[in-house]
Amino acid sequence: MFFVLNPVELLQGFSAALELSLGGVQKHQWRVALIAAYMADELALDAEEKQDLIYTALIHDIGTNVSWKEHLLSLHQQGNDRMYQHAEHGYQLLKESRLFKRLAPYIRHHHDAWNGMGSNPVRLTGEAIPLISRIICLADAIEISVRDNEFIFTQYKQVVEYIQAHSGTIFDPQLVNIFERVSRKEAFWLDIANPFSFQNFFDSISIYGKSQYSIEDIMEIADIWATIVDRNDPFTGKHSHRVADVSEYVARAKGFSEDEVILLRISGLLHDLGKLAVSNEILTKPDKLTKSEFFIIKQHPYYTYQILQAIEGLQIIAKWAAYHHETLDGEGYPFHLGARELSLGSRIVAVADIFTALTERRPYHADFSWGEVRHIMTGMAERGKIDKSLVELLFVNEQELNTLVKKTSGQ
Ligand SMILES: [Fe+2]
Ligand SMILES: [Fe+2]
Ligand SMILES: [Fe+2]
Repeated sequence: MFFVLNPVELLQGFSAALELSLGGVQKHQWRVALIAAYMADELALDAEEKQDLIYTALIHDIGTNVSWKEHLLSLHQQGNDRMYQHAEHGYQLLKESRLFKRLAPYIRHHHDAWNGMGSNPVRLTGEAIPLISRIICLADAIEISVRDNEFIFTQYKQVVEYIQAHSGTIFDPQLVNIFERVSRKEAFWLDIANPFSFQNFFDSISIYGKSQYSIEDIMEIADIWATIVDRNDPFTGKHSHRVADVSEYVARAKGFSEDEVILLRISGLLHDLGKLAVSNEILTKPDKLTKSEFFIIKQHPYYTYQILQAIEGLQIIAKWAAYHHETLDGEGYPFHLGARELSLGSRIVAVADIFTALTERRPYHADFSWGEVRHIMTGMAERGKIDKSLVELLFVNEQELNTLVKKTSGQ
């Protein structure tokens, strides 16, 4: 089975997910990519290098797992460990990936200073730093210096002066010269400030069109994103992977084809992608949530859907993954769909999510015995919430389920 997807759409979607995770960062990575593209044109980079630069820019902070406020603070204190940690985490996440390992070293060095200062143990100096990393380092600093609440033409000089002041220390002096040339173009600053310029930008970098991805490629991408979602959830740690295991198990028991089973695994891995929009403080709160905190949590399947459905070719996965809090009686959230709209794939992920949540140790509920889990889920099926046939299927083979529970609850 193959997917024909536009890689820009794929990265755009996932960089949007990252933006959500940073809690209010306004399109940081999109803007860094846009600035980097201007630099690439001025440097006359060849098409392939420009593409790698833009793709890296779109996900360069993939290793960040702190709030954007903290992230921003760490960036303003040149040379502190935090700043390097997220670059290293990003490298570790992608270095084994067939699709992205080419970009991993660029991410690793995107905060290395030109003169070698700083505490990054693996840092490089001067021209040993990959050019793509040097451009992102500069573009990142430009983006962070732009203030959204101020007219762009009254502040751009300050941004240029800030960059010039660090030429030869943090930034490659040759790139600073190139940036000075770029900075004379009013359109450059207007593109940064104009919230509607991004669609044009993404259209302009989509010229290479769609590529073919294998189902294993998509699984690998889903796995990376599940790891990012799960690391924000210290209580369960591996929730997305467990939901994927259970979804796969139920799909197989239901007689799905091998390709469909893998699609369900992918949907399980991605179901909580929108949780990146929920701050760590709320996700890890040990006490009961307030009403407004609960509303914030309830946004997550909406964002899972928004991100995935925008990637043409992933629409089925979007529905299977994002409808996991919908119920057959139409009382679920956020779309209030009913039995007619909820396909088997969506119903499987919903059942897998509930089962996983009940068998995981969480601070706000006691450990349930297996009999209790079955009782709770049968009750939900009887009240018209979840698919009865799937709940029965889940509990049909006690021995297999035992093995699965052990695996999924990490016992
Ligand atoms: Fe960064
Ligand atoms: Fe969820
Ligand atoms: Fe979940």
